[in-house]
Amino acid sequence: MNLFFEFHREALDPQIRENVRKTLPMLDEMKDAELREKVIDAWALSLQLNGWTAIEEMPGSGMPEASAIGDQSMHIKVVMYNALSIYRNLKKAYERDFGLDEDILMACAALHDVGKPYEYNRTERPKWVADDKEYGMPNLRHPSYGVFICGVCELPAPVLNVAGYHSPEGRFIKRSAYGEIVHYADDGSWFSLARLCDLNIPKL
Ligand SMILES: [Fe+2]
Repeated sequence: MNLFFEFHREALDPQIRENVRKTLPMLDEMKDAELREKVIDAWALSLQLNGWTAIEEMPGSGMPEASAIGDQSMHIKVVMYNALSIYRNLKKAYERDFGLDEDILMACAALHDVGKPYEYNRTERPKWVADDKEYGMPNLRHPSYGVFICGVCELPAPVLNVAGYHSPEGRFIKRSAYGEIVHYADDGSWFSLARLCDLNIPKL
């Protein structure tokens, strides 16, 4: 909490929060219960502000122009599985602790695409398409909107870095270690699927 603004969890639709909790049961592995609730807040807020009630309602693609497979919840889950397994496998194989916090890594993976409800917004997006002179196209990509959501929900700074730079935007900065792992967890899933299922996944 800070003096300038305060997030009101009670203003979120409890059904949407519950839907997020059911969609992402892996969050129960997190030891930090307050961080887990903030992850759920962030997804619920982004969905609620953009006319969605569950992550499953969004198509399973990396961006609206790309091929879809399954629904968006499957993508978020695979990036969570991949990110944690990359880190745990490194620890196992190299027999050392690389110093990351697995709760933070889980939050980063769970929220890397939390801005997608805006990029996929069914009423806003047609306005951007119709008048890109006014809005830009898209008005915001999901990394920018994800930073907004994570900031409002008072997620820690490493989560903001991953929301904002897991994507090609990350070529302009030096990503955190969390961001680098989530980037490869994300791209690894998309480009493997592209080859397995003959999908069109643009390489940005
Ligand atoms: Fe992603």
